[in-house]
Amino acid sequence: MVGRRVGIVGAGLVGATAAYSLAMLGTCHEVILYDIVPEVAFGKAIDIGQSASYSKKGTIISAVEEPSGLKDCDIVVITAGVPRKGDMTREDLLLINAKIMKDVVGNIKVHSPNAVIICVSNPLDVMTYVIHRMTGWEKNRILGMAGTLDSARMAYQIQKKIGFGSSQIKSMVIGDHGQNMIPLPELSSVGGVPLSQLVSADAMEEITRKTKEGGAEIVKYLGTSAYYAPGRSIAVMVEAILDDSRIVMPSSVLLEGEYGYSDVTAGVPVVLGAKGVEKIIELDFDAARKADFEKSVASIRDGIRILEENNFFA
Ligand code: NAI
Ligand code: 2OP
Repeated sequence: MVGRRVGIVGAGLVGATAAYSLAMLGTCHEVILYDIVPEVAFGKAIDIGQSASYSKKGTIISAVEEPSGLKDCDIVVITAGVPRKGDMTREDLLLINAKIMKDVVGNIKVHSPNAVIICVSNPLDVMTYVIHRMTGWEKNRILGMAGTLDSARMAYQIQKKIGFGSSQIKSMVIGDHGQNMIPLPELSSVGGVPLSQLVSADAMEEITRKTKEGGAEIVKYLGTSAYYAPGRSIAVMVEAILDDSRIVMPSSVLLEGEYGYSDVTAGVPVVLGAKGVEKIIELDFDAARKADFEKSVASIRDGIRILEENNFFA
C-alpha cells in the first residue's frame, strides 16, 4: 500500500502553493507544513485546510512547530531557502542555502528515514546534489523539481505561438535549472504532430529562448519568483510517486555513468513511480546537444566546486 503523508519544509510561496495544489487534487491523506517561522506554517495550514472543505477528496492539512513533527512522511518536499538580497554574492547565497539544506536533511534522515525527497530550493541541481551527499541514500529516493516546471513553461510558449492544442502539447527541458537549461523542441509535439511540422526553425528558436527566460519574466513583473506553476509542478511529481503512475518527467537526479557523467546531478528524463526514480532514460544526443549538456553539467559542477572549496562536505 503506497503511503500518503507528505511533508513540506518551507511554507513560503512555493511550499504553500504546493500544499494548496495537493489539497485541491486530494492526492494525499495528509500534508504537513513546517517552516522556521512557525506562524507562517500554522496560518497557511489553517487557510489551506479550510479550502480543502470544497475538494472532492478530503486532505488533512496540518503544521508542526519542530522539524521532528515531519514524522514518517512518504515524501518530503524541500522549499526552504533564502532569496538573494543586497550585496550577497552568488557564492554567499549558495553557502547559505546549502547550510539550510544540511540542517533540513539531518532532520529528515532521523524522522522520515524512508521518504522520497523532492528538492525545490535553488540553485536546484546543486541543492539536490547536497541532499545526496548529506543523506547517502539510494539515488532513486532523491529528485530535484525543475524539469516539470520548465517543460510546462515551454508548453505555454508553444501554445502562445501556435494558438491551439494547449492540453495536447508535449515538451521537455533537460540540463540545469538555470542559464544553460536545454529545451528540446525537436522532441516536442502537439496532438502527436511534431512541432517542427507546425512552426518554422526561427519560431522554435524563439520558443526555446522564451522558455529559458520564463522564470526571469515573472520576477520582472512580481519582484519575486513564480509559485503557481512551481507549486503545481511539485504536486504532479508527488502524485506520480504516490500513485506509482510511471510517467516520464525530466527531473534532476544523480548521474552515475548515465550520459557519460558521474558524481553530479542534472535534469534528465526519468520514470517517476513509487520508488521515486524508477528509471533514468538516456536520450541519443547529436553533437550539438552533447555540447549543450556538457555546458549545463559544467555550470552545476561549478556550484559543487564552490561548496567543496569552502569545505562544505568535510
Ligand atoms: P519564500 O521566501 O516565499 O519561502 C521560503 C520559506 O522557507 C520561508 O517561509 C522561510 O521562512 C523558510 N525557511 C528558511 N529557512 C528554513 C529552514 N531552515 N527550515 C524551514 N523553513 C525555512 O520562497 P519561495 O518563493 O517559496 O521559494 C522557495 C525556494 O524555491 C527558493 O529557493 C526558490 O528559489 C526556489 N524555487 C525553485 C523552483 C524550481 O523550479 N526548482 C521554482 C520556484 C522557486
Ligand atoms: C523559477 O524558475 C526561481 O527557480 C525559480 O521560477
